[in-house]
Amino acid sequence: MQLTDVEKRMRDGEQGEPVRMAMEILIALGEIYEAERLISVRSAHLAGLSLKSHGIAGTEWAEDLAKQGAKVCIPTTMNVVGVDRSRDLKLPREWEKNQLRIETAYESMGCFGTSTCVPYYCGFVPRFREHIAWAESSAVIFSNSVLGARDNREGGPSALAAGLTGRTPLHGLHLDENRRGDVLFRVAAPLSGIADYGALGSYVGRMIGTRVPVFEGIKGPSIEELVYLGSALASSGGVALFHAAGVTPEAPTLESAFGGKRYDIVEVTARELEEGRQKLTSGKERKVDYVAIGCPHCSLNQIKEISILLGGRKVKEETALWIHTNVAIKHLAKQLGYVKVIEDAGGIVTQDFCTILGNPEALGFKTLATNSPKMAFYAPGSNGLDVWYGSVEQCIDSAVSGYWKS
Ligand code: F3S
Repeated sequence: MQLTDVEKRMRDGEQGEPVRMAMEILIALGEIYEAERLISVRSAHLAGLSLKSHGIAGTEWAEDLAKQGAKVCIPTTMNVVGVDRSRDLKLPREWEKNQLRIETAYESMGCFGTSTCVPYYCGFVPRFREHIAWAESSAVIFSNSVLGARDNREGGPSALAAGLTGRTPLHGLHLDENRRGDVLFRVAAPLSGIADYGALGSYVGRMIGTRVPVFEGIKGPSIEELVYLGSALASSGGVALFHAAGVTPEAPTLESAFGGKRYDIVEVTARELEEGRQKLTSGKERKVDYVAIGCPHCSLNQIKEISILLGGRKVKEETALWIHTNVAIKHLAKQLGYVKVIEDAGGIVTQDFCTILGNPEALGFKTLATNSPKMAFYAPGSNGLDVWYGSVEQCIDSAVSGYWKS
């Protein structure tokens, strides 16, 4: 791989050990993917910051880097962590202590403790065609597809290496030729709400793996619906980029989305949507003891909607209602009175934290209801929870009644 003189000096340790180590990671990756050179990136987003993914060894590694004076040189945001810094969720103390060590280590490297998978909701919005190095599959697919930025699915170490050097290897989705569609999905089924978009992503993600789907027939989606479509594609499959004709910036037309490539066509009717929904449902007992919403983290509008849906009703005593978002959105939601409505009803609005990367199962929850396709996909394996998947209305009703109604 060709390196500039500056990059060679970084590789040789002129800027210190953390930068040398970061260059070693980037060069190794570049060689694996046959990148011809490194390119500059404007921002990085670190994931894998929960104790569940970092472990104690990873925590010590991060602390060691911080002690060696590692400092990021581009805006570098942090993904969700496993503890809510604003409140006591009654999680095991040892867990909380070690989780805070991780956050402290990265913040002392100059990373922004945004602790969210939706950095684009709090001011970190890449421009069209801008090269970035973000980890967190749902943020990657959103920035690639909806914003038209250029990003590969980075891992935690490669995103940190990019943050420390401002560089990433030129390969994959940084290149025009890899951004064209592979399969056309003609959506005939009407889509309404996040759970429908999640069901679509669940169906298509399983079928397409890591290829690029192009949708036709998606009309006037909200930003949140696109966020949840992307998160489902990225979790049920390994998709990092999708196009929606007439909706996303690289697909003003079907022709531009495929760029002259030949493609297969798949029809999506109500039957396929139902199949996607069923794959996210593993509930057996109708009794629900945990309702969680916000994977990816909720927008302000989602929190407002939940406060309206509660409509003065109370959450059932034996059922927990947890709404996940970040500190920026929560602050606004608090100022506008939505948090008070939810918490007066018996729910809570968490920040920094989420079900999959935290460990709410430590509190004994067994059956989850959610409208979040990524949470529904991972919760059985990562948290040992049975899952009911459906609309936000169904989720709020089940929080109030303690039972899931199909
Ligand atoms: Fe975000 Fe956690 Fe889901 S990081 S996408 S809320 S698993």
